[in-house]
Amino acid sequence: MSQTEGGALRVAVLGKGAREAGLARRIAEEIGADAVVVVPGNAGTPGSTGPLGEGAALAAALRAREVGLVVIGPEALLAAGVADQLRAAGFAVVGPGAQGALLEGSKAYCKAFLLRHQIPTAAVVEVRSPADDAAAFATFPGPAVAKYDGLAEGKGVVVCDDPDQLRAALADLRARFGASAHVLIEERLTGPELSVFLLVADGAYVELPEARDHKRLLEGDQGPNTGGMGAISPVLAADDPLRARIRAEIIAPTVRGLAADGLPFRGFLFIGLMLTPAGPKVLEFNTRLGDPEAQVILPRIEGALVPLLAGCAQGALPVGAVRTSPRHVAGVVIARDGYPSAAIEAAPLLPTVSVRGAHLVVGSAVVDPAGVVRLPGGRALTAVGVGDSAAAARHRAYRLAGEVVEQAPAAFQLRPDVGRRPRLAVFASGGGSNLRAITAACAAGALRGLAEVGLVVSDRPRCGAVEWSRAAGLEVWAERRLPDAGAEWEAQAAAAVEAAGCDLVVLAGFMRVLGAAFVARFEGRIINIHPADTRQHQGLGGYEQAWERRLDETLITVHLVDGGLDTGPILAQAPVDLRGARSLDEVRTRGLAVEHALYPRTIERVLRSGSVGALTVGEE
Ligand code: GAR
Repeated sequence: MSQTEGGALRVAVLGKGAREAGLARRIAEEIGADAVVVVPGNAGTPGSTGPLGEGAALAAALRAREVGLVVIGPEALLAAGVADQLRAAGFAVVGPGAQGALLEGSKAYCKAFLLRHQIPTAAVVEVRSPADDAAAFATFPGPAVAKYDGLAEGKGVVVCDDPDQLRAALADLRARFGASAHVLIEERLTGPELSVFLLVADGAYVELPEARDHKRLLEGDQGPNTGGMGAISPVLAADDPLRARIRAEIIAPTVRGLAADGLPFRGFLFIGLMLTPAGPKVLEFNTRLGDPEAQVILPRIEGALVPLLAGCAQGALPVGAVRTSPRHVAGVVIARDGYPSAAIEAAPLLPTVSVRGAHLVVGSAVVDPAGVVRLPGGRALTAVGVGDSAAAARHRAYRLAGEVVEQAPAAFQLRPDVGRRPRLAVFASGGGSNLRAITAACAAGALRGLAEVGLVVSDRPRCGAVEWSRAAGLEVWAERRLPDAGAEWEAQAAAAVEAAGCDLVVLAGFMRVLGAAFVARFEGRIINIHPADTRQHQGLGGYEQAWERRLDETLITVHLVDGGLDTGPILAQAPVDLRGARSLDEVRTRGLAVEHALYPRTIERVLRSGSVGALTVGEE
């Protein structure tokens, strides 16, 4: 491989977007700007060469620039076999050949791989014509997802609530991709998403930092899907136990599976996961880094990345973890107005914005005939903030993005809530049915896109709520509360709630009265659900007293917590019809059904009222 004057390897990054700009930036920091070229790159990215042709012409141009190592960014180049061509021409290449790229390019190929190697994923029925539909409808009578097999520029997946929507989705996919379009109909999974990244080479791998992105255009996960409007790393839920589980159940069998299939794979593998209540499951593989994920994970890779890339390309990866920085990174995409639907007139790139701890990655820029660098439509820029906390990283990214938007002569848009979703600390010490209802509402109900469970707190480390939370990949703080040490326990719990960045404390079957210090610390931000009318019955045994008194109706109450026993202001109440109930169990079952609907709806109201968990940024 060729070396630069300083002895380092000269590296070419192929592609023209923000992912490639981010890669080039990280590599240049390590081996110097002169040792990196971006092919073709863009007018706002240092080291960009412009187009160098394809095939033999590209190989000759890279050789002329003394490139030894090539890192391929976009999936289209991988699918077209560019990695194979450059390897054949003698280059060390990070990126799979066309065969390996099928893991991303064909959803059916990917699903067959997952099933063959028993890697957790959604159940599937494949259809190739309307004659196959009956089996799919019989297997998935409720929510389902329809996925077109091939590459579809992000428009091949339709999430359906019921069979009617599924029927419409199939009709739409067949209209666009042909009557015999190959479509996968899958079980619809629920839970928070997580993206994990690996460098893989011939049966070996190293893990890179994880990320979570924001796919929808608008605040609160509303609006159309986009290429990604922002991302964060690290992701709080991805603690050591969850990572160990993902490693054992997903990463290791995937890498083993590649080797067992004899599938040559040297490159990045991006695994899209859903953290379902039954554990992490694979949504998709991508055979490259993501945009904007690359912009937030690369700054967290400490130490030498280039030797890792070179090792990957040569099939000699060191086994073990990459050194990951504990710092937080937030990436806020600044898109031109009109994105993702309309193309827009190019705006000049601003040369002067700068914020400490933040940098701008240019995703698309061209030079106009007058020599002015301009940003055409689309996801033009990413403002990347780095800090010691998620809040600091976010703050810096938004300050930089704010400068750009303020000074820009043209209109830009960005999501105001990247990395920021009100976080709930759910206190539970029982079976956890309310916790499950709240978690489900965050994934697909009243709280979808509005809130997430940031922490589960318990004083009973072995209770059902805690066991379930761990299995679901939620972050848990569970410590036995020793007699006479209640104040200490509450101080520690409060610290854990704050460390997890939670905005609202939600008591869900937490059978303790919280002390004055705790209540004062989270004043106005603690709510409780109580299985009775708190004006008539406080404390434990709400359902027991309703049963003993053979009430025809009881009132579930959600209230703000003050220093007393179930005395705080009432936020919501809902009746439970108990007529004809034949046992305490039946009373409880009817009551819990009302609780599970009332609590998420009330949390939604509290959050939307803006009194807690501001959706915007600003704190450092
Ligand atoms: C729920 O019925 C809740 O209302 C009650 O504990 C149960 C917890 O069940 N809370 C109180 O009695 C508070 N005074 P869950 O944790 O299985 O949802």
